[in-house]
Amino acid sequence: MAARSLLVASLLLLSCFAETCHGVVLFSSLQRTLLVTASPKQGEVLKAGENNITVSWGLNQTFPAGTDSAYKTIKVKLCYAPISQVDRAWRKTVDNLSKDKTCQFNVVTGPYNRSNSTSTIIVEKDVPTATYFVRAYAYDSQDNEVAYGQTTDGHKTTNLFDIQAITGRHVSLDIASACFSAFSVLALLGFFFMEKRKSMVLSYKSETGKWAMFNNCSLLCSISVS
Ligand SMILES: *[C@@H]1O[C@H](CO)[C@@H](O)[C@H](O)[C@H]1NC(C)=O
Ligand SMILES: *[C@@H]1O[C@H](CO)[C@@H](O)[C@H](O)[C@H]1NC(C)=O
Ligand SMILES: *[C@@H]1O[C@H](CO)[C@@H](O)[C@H](O)[C@H]1NC(C)=O
Ligand SMILES: *[C@@H]1O[C@H](CO)[C@@H](O)[C@H](O)[C@H]1NC(C)=O
Ligand SMILES: *[C@@H]1O[C@H](CO)[C@@H](O)[C@H](O)[C@H]1NC(C)=O
Repeated sequence: MAARSLLVASLLLLSCFAETCHGVVLFSSLQRTLLVTASPKQGEVLKAGENNITVSWGLNQTFPAGTDSAYKTIKVKLCYAPISQVDRAWRKTVDNLSKDKTCQFNVVTGPYNRSNSTSTIIVEKDVPTATYFVRAYAYDSQDNEVAYGQTTDGHKTTNLFDIQAITGRHVSLDIASACFSAFSVLALLGFFFMEKRKSMVLSYKSETGKWAMFNNCSLLCSISVS
């Protein structure tokens, strides 16, 4: 028991270290030094698994040389627009980036390049129906966010586009409906045998007595009784 709690404690400690090792970065502390553009127009609707997005990113050249000396890698992500975050805690924007849920879908990960980079990606099938924008984060060699850029303005109101998830039934829905079908077949069988037993009892009783007609009985037994 003691050994186990020791193990749990050390695991907790380890995960704390892992957390702090990744640093605590606040979004509000990042400089917007990257220029990011994406092909979807304001209000455009893209189909997941079908349509593509072309994204470009690079340093805003008005920043002095050396601004990007610490940038090692870039991640380009799809992020939920505020309208798709309402009442959804699992998409919430938190300034503490280790808790932020705004940008959940990585579309490009690669080494940072000072000159513009461009990439075309197909929207993944698991991207849910929502309104999005594109944001890129630059990371230093410790894998901490050090800068960002995005296709929308600071209030996330411009250049928003929609992604429509694949239509068709969800797997869990299929499982649920299969369960219901199995249940209804079982229930039907159950009723059938209950009725059958009742009618057997009735036909036996109608041979010995004459009360069967007055019995509270459904169609199945009345046929077998008559
Ligand atoms: C991206 O989509 C456009 C129009 O839907 C199409 O013309 C183009 O070939 C696609 N590009 C790639 C790389 O799939
Ligand atoms: C580049 O950065 C400067 C300084 O922050 C800013 O004024 C300018 O609007 C940025 N350029 C673009 C295209 O966002
Ligand atoms: C940010 O979140 C991490 C992980 O939950 C936490 O350890 C840290 O204290 C938070 N930092 C701030 C400034 O809220
Ligand atoms: C950066 O991009 C330029 C032009 O596309 C290319 O020549 C260069 O090799 C790239 N550098 C790195 C480090 O990827
Ligand atoms: C990089 O892209 C921006 C727009 O995203 C554009 O204004 C700039 O001219 C491009 N720079 C180069 C070197 O292609």
